[in-house]
Amino acid sequence: MRIAVFGLGYVGSTTMACLAEMGHEMVGTDPNPGKVELINAGKSPMVEPGLPELLLKHRGKGRISATTDAQEAFDGADACLLCVGTPPAADGFVDQRVLEIVALQIADMRLATGRMVPMLVRSTALPVVHQDIINKLEKRLAGRQSPGYVVHPEFLREGSAIEDFFHPAKIVFGCTGDQGRHFCEGLYPGFDAPIVFTDPLTAAVAKYADNCFHAVKVTFANEIGSLCKGMGVDPRKAMDIFCLDTKLNISPVYLRPGFAYGGSCLGKDLSAMNTFGRRMGIKVPMLASVEDSNLNQIRGVADRILASRTKSVGLFGLAFKERTDDLRDSPLVILGAMLDRAGVKIGIYDPAICAVAYSGSHMAYALQYLPDLRKMLSDDAPKVIGESDTIVISRTFPEFAWRDLPWREGHSIMDLNGRLDLEGVNIPVIGLYW
Ligand SMILES: NC(=O)c1ccc[n+]([C@@H]2O[C@H](COP(=O)([O-])OP(=O)(O)OC[C@H]3O[C@@H](n4cnc5c(N)ncnc54)[C@H](O)[C@@H]3O)[C@@H](O)[C@H]2O)c1
Repeated sequence: MRIAVFGLGYVGSTTMACLAEMGHEMVGTDPNPGKVELINAGKSPMVEPGLPELLLKHRGKGRISATTDAQEAFDGADACLLCVGTPPAADGFVDQRVLEIVALQIADMRLATGRMVPMLVRSTALPVVHQDIINKLEKRLAGRQSPGYVVHPEFLREGSAIEDFFHPAKIVFGCTGDQGRHFCEGLYPGFDAPIVFTDPLTAAVAKYADNCFHAVKVTFANEIGSLCKGMGVDPRKAMDIFCLDTKLNISPVYLRPGFAYGGSCLGKDLSAMNTFGRRMGIKVPMLASVEDSNLNQIRGVADRILASRTKSVGLFGLAFKERTDDLRDSPLVILGAMLDRAGVKIGIYDPAICAVAYSGSHMAYALQYLPDLRKMLSDDAPKVIGESDTIVISRTFPEFAWRDLPWREGHSIMDLNGRLDLEGVNIPVIGLYW
């Protein structure tokens, strides 16, 4: 295929060289004549291991060329890859100007030639930016063509960009409709990586989630490092042990949006580390902010429920997680208390708690927050549903066929779990974040 690359920076040059290695004819365009000249001389415009060799090789084979003339790059191209910069604007938001200019420029060239050439956007931009550009493309194309705008985030790292290109952890395409999908499907034959087709906005977030997580990981390791120094512990050894745990630590566990954490250990141990840091004058702002962020999650749910002006809430699940009766630091106890204090009538169904309501060792803890807890508890799920307008469900309760429970008009469900099978339940369901 002949592929045009818009923007010959780190991403554009690497992508161009790697796709040439895969046998494609690559034409790059960039307003910077210095970069164009270097590429046409078979040289790399930036320092990146392996890049000069690939550019030289494929310039020699005639598979790579560069031009400052966007039209020249577009002519005859089967697809356009947009690799232009999206630097931070003055307020830290995405500066979308160049991306927008190039997308509209390609749209104009498409209209002039009548060729529906898909544009694959490798530049990083927030969903709202992509949506704005898609809207502008739709307006510009005025029904004559569809946008053909595919968000195809780039995950490579400078310094190992070529290795990352050929061995990606994942390949993501966010397509608007079927436009461009056929081209995408054929772009990475034989790559040993999951290929995900999704919508453009989800694809965009996938990239941001990665980079936010990487930043959080580095900061986490460094904050543990600073606390370790204060404790006289070598954090390299401690974190080597941490990383051995691929079940809970380096794994998908705890990485699904859901309700706040709780339980007798997480809050307590986090608090111990933060207090040690404070006593020693060691600043760990990320760890120090976690408890507040967690509390915000609980408050956010309480606010949403209260804003709905519901008079009665049935909490399905009260312990901090399922299959336990442990109420210590349960976010559901805190949520119940927030609603109770606001005058909402509370009913609670949690079989693990009902079984120990009069003997459970943690009842005393929960009673501080919910003095009427024993009156609120019931082991009769239909009764709790019958007496409540809003049902807040925090676990899956596999024992229920939800559709068979006594729903009525005026009921609504707030789903804090995200894995509920609510098929056939014909009342409004409000997801936590979905
Ligand atoms: N650098 C990385 O490691 C990396 C990794 C993943 C994603 N990204 C994202 O990829 C995008 C590009 O990043 P980069 O580091 O390659 O940026 P860069 O600044 O190195 O390159 C951008 C290029 O776009 C060119 N350009 C400006 N206006 C243009 C126009 N009208 N037409 C064509 N080209 C134009 C610039 O001259 C420049 O050469 C950004 O959105 C970035 O966030 C970067």
